[in-house]
Amino acid sequence: MDWDALRAQFRLEPGWANLALFYLASHPKAVREAVDHLSAQVDANPLAVPAGLALPDGPTGWPRVRQALAACLGGRAEEIAMTASTSIGLGVVYNGVVTRPGQEFLLTELDHNSHRTAARLAAEKHGNTVRLASWFADSATATAQGIAAAVGEAIRPNTRVVGITWVQSSTGLRMPVRAVADVVRRANEGRSPADRCLLVVDGVHGLAAVDEDAAGLGADVVIAGTHKWLFGPRGTGLIWVAPDILDQLRPTFVSFIGSGGTAALSPGGFLAFEHAFALPVAVALHEQLGRARVAARVTRLSTRVKQGLGRIPGVTVHTPADPDLSAGITCFSVAGYTHQQVVDHAASRRVRLSTLNYTRIGTAVINTPAEIDTALNSLADLAR
Ligand SMILES: Cc1ncc(COP(=O)(O)O)c(C=O)c1O
Repeated sequence: MDWDALRAQFRLEPGWANLALFYLASHPKAVREAVDHLSAQVDANPLAVPAGLALPDGPTGWPRVRQALAACLGGRAEEIAMTASTSIGLGVVYNGVVTRPGQEFLLTELDHNSHRTAARLAAEKHGNTVRLASWFADSATATAQGIAAAVGEAIRPNTRVVGITWVQSSTGLRMPVRAVADVVRRANEGRSPADRCLLVVDGVHGLAAVDEDAAGLGADVVIAGTHKWLFGPRGTGLIWVAPDILDQLRPTFVSFIGSGGTAALSPGGFLAFEHAFALPVAVALHEQLGRARVAARVTRLSTRVKQGLGRIPGVTVHTPADPDLSAGITCFSVAGYTHQQVVDHAASRRVRLSTLNYTRIGTAVINTPAEIDTALNSLADLAR
């Protein structure tokens, strides 16, 4: 499938360049049809769920969903718990970590509010603390070695979790997860399992945007929504847990996925099964496109963004130029304007940007070089 054919699957508002597609997935046609197909079955006979639903090519349910995601992550189906979002996954993990009072969770201000809040709420309940460190002074010039060294220096004997973000939505920086995992592994030498420092990764902006196996990064836990870069059904997400630390996590909710192990971490109840069970279709679409090809296009588009922004006077790019330290989110500032003013100006030119700590341009695989040029031209007009 070529990129134009893929783009044609989306019902995006015509006439707009939407460069904020990493916020929440617009459903591609294949996913919309799968959701409708399942929804009709639930409406016809709600008793058919969760065991008896089928996609056009065969039965679907949690085993198939977890199998499909395992292939996507480079892990095994039994290592995956299912959630409805990244935020719920983070809550499940921080609430579930077996801790002793006095142990700490180590994060930074640049991790998402959902991550910091999950850590804080769990810490308050269980007699733990959250310490916010800093891995670099300036995201644009950060280096993998510098980040790994900063993590190594920050870990203390009572650090129970190092929580990091694969691709930060605050800066666009892609954390060198493997290098951090090496540092955490060294810090763990000689520690008992109860003292072991766990590496927890909020992977939402890496999954399906970066050509890496999330389960092979060296992390202990990877949490991600599947309703952003993967274009999975809205209200879907996962937690991947390394088998050797599973006994360090306790469930918080009843699970309706009956297979025990990591599945026991999945918040249960009757969910939007027509969304959850359509996930294999999104994974199949991603596989059809090819993960390496998708990641290469995301990188190509974000490189065009960075190079274009670099030519506009008064614009400061906060995301590293190095493709190994960035992915599909580029963060920047325009001198003399607030981030909201930049977003509003772009919207007046029918360009959707978003803002968190900075103004952000997200380059999804369905965006085009022409849309990026429209955005860059609107920013050049503002800066003039
Ligand atoms: C880094 C990061 N983590 C977590 C979230 C929350 O994701 P979700 O909507 O899947 O809960 C976001 C939201 O975009 C995010 O940017």
